[in-house]
Amino acid sequence: MPVSRRGFLRLVGRAESSPISGAFLSARGLEAHFAEAQAQGGRVRPVLPPGVDEIRLSSNENPLGPGRVALDAILGKFPEAGRYPFNSSPAEGDLIAAIAAKYQVKPENVVLGAGSQEILKSSMRAWVSPTRAFITALPTFENCTGYAKRYGLPLTEVKVDAAMRLDVEPMIAAALGSQPAAGLLFFNNPNNPTATVHGAKTVADMVERVRKGSPDTVILIDEAYHDYVTDPSYETAIPLALSTPNVLVARTFSKAYGMAGMRIGYAIGMADTLKPLAKLKMPYNVSVFGVAAAIASLADARHIEEERARNTEVRAFTVKALQDMGAKPADSQGNFLFVDIGRPAKEFRDACAKSGVMVGRDFPPFEKTHCRISIGTMDEMKKATEVFRTALKAPTTTAGEKGGR
Ligand SMILES: Cc1ncc(COP(=O)(O)O)c(C=O)c1O
Repeated sequence: MPVSRRGFLRLVGRAESSPISGAFLSARGLEAHFAEAQAQGGRVRPVLPPGVDEIRLSSNENPLGPGRVALDAILGKFPEAGRYPFNSSPAEGDLIAAIAAKYQVKPENVVLGAGSQEILKSSMRAWVSPTRAFITALPTFENCTGYAKRYGLPLTEVKVDAAMRLDVEPMIAAALGSQPAAGLLFFNNPNNPTATVHGAKTVADMVERVRKGSPDTVILIDEAYHDYVTDPSYETAIPLALSTPNVLVARTFSKAYGMAGMRIGYAIGMADTLKPLAKLKMPYNVSVFGVAAAIASLADARHIEEERARNTEVRAFTVKALQDMGAKPADSQGNFLFVDIGRPAKEFRDACAKSGVMVGRDFPPFEKTHCRISIGTMDEMKKATEVFRTALKAPTTTAGEKGGR
């Protein structure tokens, strides 16, 4: 069935006149669904008071969604929604070829995931076990940590340093001194939720030292926010991964490419390193929509440049507004900020939610002092910062009990 672009946008609630706004979806008639999802352990969006529009700054999503060429590619795939990805064109192999061409590597240097979370999870399955420990940071993206905890696997979490950056020396020491030996070291650069980054030299030195002392430890460098980095000392670790055994980089189309709902990520590294991930991959893990949209996006480099510039501008506006209120954001190299608000995240989150502004969840051990705020559009951040100003003026009695510095 042909779906016009306009009709499609109206359906998903992006047209001005859409009756299906984010607030409508959050608030009306879905309470039972939310309760059910929560009972099953799913993440649940709060119900907003009627008439309050939502500004969602809680999940590090791209507020503009996919670019035009990606949306057109998605629309073009509706007639093939009934086909398996291998019966559709372009197929999964075409996306692998497009990614391989971008980095001038072979297809066997790339493994696709249903989002980069599949890459992360498969890495845990491949390289962490009761006799091979997992080394990570605290706080960092919790997907792998959660896996280790769920299955009772040996785990070392190294707290970030005073500047909220991954604390590299103790992470290296943990990898080299681990008992049992370290199977996997997770290095999130830029780090979610703190948004800080390490430069290329620090990353290369870390890899060299871990490889020298523990060559069997696999190093997973997660660059989900790569496209948003503006720090000139940063470079992608992809060339390092392509030339160093047991090093891989995870990337995603969920952030700057605006395709979180399409679920496409990938690992890149030496073919031998990636073999275990290729074996663990679920058949048909990526959809015809995601494949088509990702291929189209890769050919539209200008869109990513524009998205980076947009995010940089809105990020600078938000940092300044927060600093003017006395809050202290850590240096941000992503599409989110980790902010010392001098009060519990929950208190701030609940206060903002009353005005429809949704900010990030708790990130222990900083949940009593810091909050993560994703960067929305300029218009959203102008409204949101007014809400922050009011929330931060309210007295707090519980700050500083735990965490913080
Ligand atoms: C650091 C990091 N890695 C990976 C992901 C997962 O992204 P996806 O599975 O959507 O590709 C996220 C999502 O927020 C993230 O912050």
